[in-house]
Amino acid sequence: MVDQFPDGFLWGAATAAHQVEGGNVNADMWAAEWAPGSRFAEPSGDACDHYHRYPEDIATLAGLGLNAYRFGVEWARIEPEEGYFSRAALDHYRRMVGTCLEHGVTPVVTYNHFTTPRWFAAAGGWNGTAAVDRFARYAARLTEHIGDLVPWVCTFNEPNVISLMVHLGLIPAAAREDGLGLSGDTDSQAAQSGGSWPAADVAVMAAAHRKAVEAIKSGPGNPAVGWTLALIDLQPADGGEQRWTATRQAAELDWLDVSRDDDFVGVQTYTRERIGPDGVLPVPEGVATTQTGWEIYPQALGHTVRLAAEHTRVPVLVTENGIATADDDARIAYTAAALEGLAGCVADGVDVRGYLHWSLLDNFEWTSGFAMTFGLIAVDRTTFARTVKPSARRLGEIARAGRLP
Ligand code: NOJ
Repeated sequence: MVDQFPDGFLWGAATAAHQVEGGNVNADMWAAEWAPGSRFAEPSGDACDHYHRYPEDIATLAGLGLNAYRFGVEWARIEPEEGYFSRAALDHYRRMVGTCLEHGVTPVVTYNHFTTPRWFAAAGGWNGTAAVDRFARYAARLTEHIGDLVPWVCTFNEPNVISLMVHLGLIPAAAREDGLGLSGDTDSQAAQSGGSWPAADVAVMAAAHRKAVEAIKSGPGNPAVGWTLALIDLQPADGGEQRWTATRQAAELDWLDVSRDDDFVGVQTYTRERIGPDGVLPVPEGVATTQTGWEIYPQALGHTVRLAAEHTRVPVLVTENGIATADDDARIAYTAAALEGLAGCVADGVDVRGYLHWSLLDNFEWTSGFAMTFGLIAVDRTTFARTVKPSARRLGEIARAGRLP
């Protein structure tokens, strides 16, 4: 097998604003992680203090030999009140982009990674009629400020994730309507409006994406624009073929269809799920799982990259892939096996542009809190001191060589 990756391949790691920045109190996450009775394990609090420590984190990433950093911009900081855009927040993200460039690191910027301003959630979130215009207006303003320096833009992170969870039967369809009941506070305005879940159907999210792409394309610079999708490697188990076909169509293929007009599609893969006649099968007894309970199945990456490339016929950027584990040797083994699958794609002529590991830092894993450690770099929860893990060095070595050992 050819294990050489193409010249200019992006090797890096990813984060999302809300999961690492800290102090992000103006953002709404699925009807308020801060609310009393919230089903979140803990609030994000100061997270990794990345808002202030990004210069150190980007320097560390570059020092490891990585050449790309995917990070998110927090809409709630840019537009804390509807129609008011914070020049200071815009400048902050421009400085982040600039720091990447000073280190020879290619910035990959996500405009929306799950969280939205609270005013947006209260006004109906993605189910509101004005959502499409509101998102496009933010995208236009942000692009005006940073577009000249940014080569890669992801509009939405995993707009299909709720659809995927609903179709897999992991959350009930009706729960969407009350912000999934995550706040424990069903009377709040945000909860009643469905919160800011990326819950709207594919048509709404596609419309918001398209309008944002238009805004980004008419701004400065010439970034490649796409969105990123949660692609679980869905596999049919005995008797589950029919259900598998329908699930894959609604939760993944319908969303990939939207990407056909884009410059690239972002693929985010962690594991597989096997679908039987009655739905998702449990992970079999004795099979190794991660802290999140997902089967350790690194082959998923090669499979979903092929699916995305075949279905969209546009270049693929792996925008997330990783494993929640306290055992860094397991992370090293998982990453090596996932990259082997990716090398196989490259050898077969699939147009893959990069691999961005999730995550650069141990961070706030949404409802599960900080106990899930996806990072290449550990973060002390009291001092915020960073400790580079061996897996980070290993990925850096592969990146420097541009090939698997
Ligand atoms: C996908 C999401 O984009 C990210 O926010 C999350 O932390 C990882 N998956 C791991 O669950």
